[in-house]
Amino acid sequence: QNVTGMTIVLFGATGDLAKRKLYPALYNLYIENKMPETFSVIGLGRTPYTDDVFQTKVEQSLRNYSRGPVHDKGLQQFLTSFRYCTFDATETDSYKKLNGLIEQRENELSLPQNRLFYLSVAPSLIDVITSNLTTSGVSQTTGWKRLIVEKPFGSDLASARELNEKLRTAFHEDEIYRIDHYLGKPMVQNLETLILVNPVLDSLFNHQLIANVQITASETVGVESRAPYYDKAGAIRDMVQNHMLQLVMMTALHLPRKAQPEEIRTKKVEIMKALRPIQGETLQDNLIRAQYVEGDVFGIDVPAYREEPGVPQSSMNDTYIAARLFIDNEFWNGIPFYLRTGKRLDKKSTRIVFEFKERPAEIDDYTPEGLAPNLLILEISPNESISLQVNMKNPSTDRFEPSTITFTSNSNNQPEAYEVLLHDAMLGNATFFANWKEVELSWQWIQPLLEAFKENELPLVTYSAGSTGPREARQLLAADHFKWW
Ligand code: BG6
Repeated sequence: QNVTGMTIVLFGATGDLAKRKLYPALYNLYIENKMPETFSVIGLGRTPYTDDVFQTKVEQSLRNYSRGPVHDKGLQQFLTSFRYCTFDATETDSYKKLNGLIEQRENELSLPQNRLFYLSVAPSLIDVITSNLTTSGVSQTTGWKRLIVEKPFGSDLASARELNEKLRTAFHEDEIYRIDHYLGKPMVQNLETLILVNPVLDSLFNHQLIANVQITASETVGVESRAPYYDKAGAIRDMVQNHMLQLVMMTALHLPRKAQPEEIRTKKVEIMKALRPIQGETLQDNLIRAQYVEGDVFGIDVPAYREEPGVPQSSMNDTYIAARLFIDNEFWNGIPFYLRTGKRLDKKSTRIVFEFKERPAEIDDYTPEGLAPNLLILEISPNESISLQVNMKNPSTDRFEPSTITFTSNSNNQPEAYEVLLHDAMLGNATFFANWKEVELSWQWIQPLLEAFKENELPLVTYSAGSTGPREARQLLAADHFKWW
């Protein structure tokens, strides 16, 4: 399927995301012939730049962040598609100027009026931008119009609903693409087909066999320069409400055959509805909330969260969350899902581990020492792989030991999540974007936790930077006779 000619209007063109992810993504799509023959990109930002300066900045971003080499051939042509418009989101005149520029480029390039608006701006501006897009006529097109919105999508259930209503005054649900870059990671996109095309893996997806599912997103970085945002968001809003719950939905999908996008969405919503709430008395037993103290990451001393620039000394913000979840549907009934995510941990890794039940000893009374559970490990990033942990006898000791076979993809230059998702949005494929119902149900699930955190109903425990997380998170699994993998 080919992408049709279009204009990409990028709000936040001088920001970090554009620089690190979006320009390299567009460039890689371009060199892989996934962009339309003619397209126009209009970057918007408050800082005044000429087109030339803007194009040089885009080029620098490609040179610094592109996943593959930047070729001289075609580069100039790619860059000449970029124009810059100095823009104040609250000024009506800015929208007039923008409209003029979009139309001018559409005429020059004979482009249809297909417009993709990408909002990579502070949440407080989303509302004003979308309403101005409508009143100024910028979003009135004779072609298609689509809106990509970055997270955070609200800061709680009420604000997410409010934001959604505002977006809906300017765009239909099927024109709104709520981006969650975890859904663009190739392993996540391929989860469903991976199981389908491998009957061996499919047969492991059996209620009788799975003991638990563990989803980990661990990071080594700290709060970086994002304290003003992160200290309000915490791991719960920054990672759990979106990325982690999306991973739960994608893991639990278990579709019996290749499904249509609509079925995937319906099924994800069903999973969210079946996700047992954690609230009231169940909170203490099922959720761990923690903050890092000083420690060392890869041999470098790093400060405690409360000592990080911009973080108040008294901050009660969570930088780590672990939780025990249950999906009350026929398939997952009684199988715990354990989630954990945190900053300043010992390694950068996002993975899903299926732990299988142990072999019942009573079968034949054969219980050799050293046996470990079988595991199916899907490593999502930084390196994609599938591993299987099995028990093997070590001929020199004559004892069983767990041994892991790992399969990695042959391609070491995989598309980046943003590339995949931008391409999907250009094609009008919203399968791997979060639809409103999923987002609303996620916030609904998170809301009691936010309230409990606010009232300090759950202790905020600590962990050392560079460690695997707090002791309490290990106890969460130990209580069920499991451990984290
Ligand atoms: C972002 C969060 O959405 O995801 C960041 O705001 C986090 O805090 C990042 O670092 C993690 O993404 P990835 O792709 O590096 O796992």
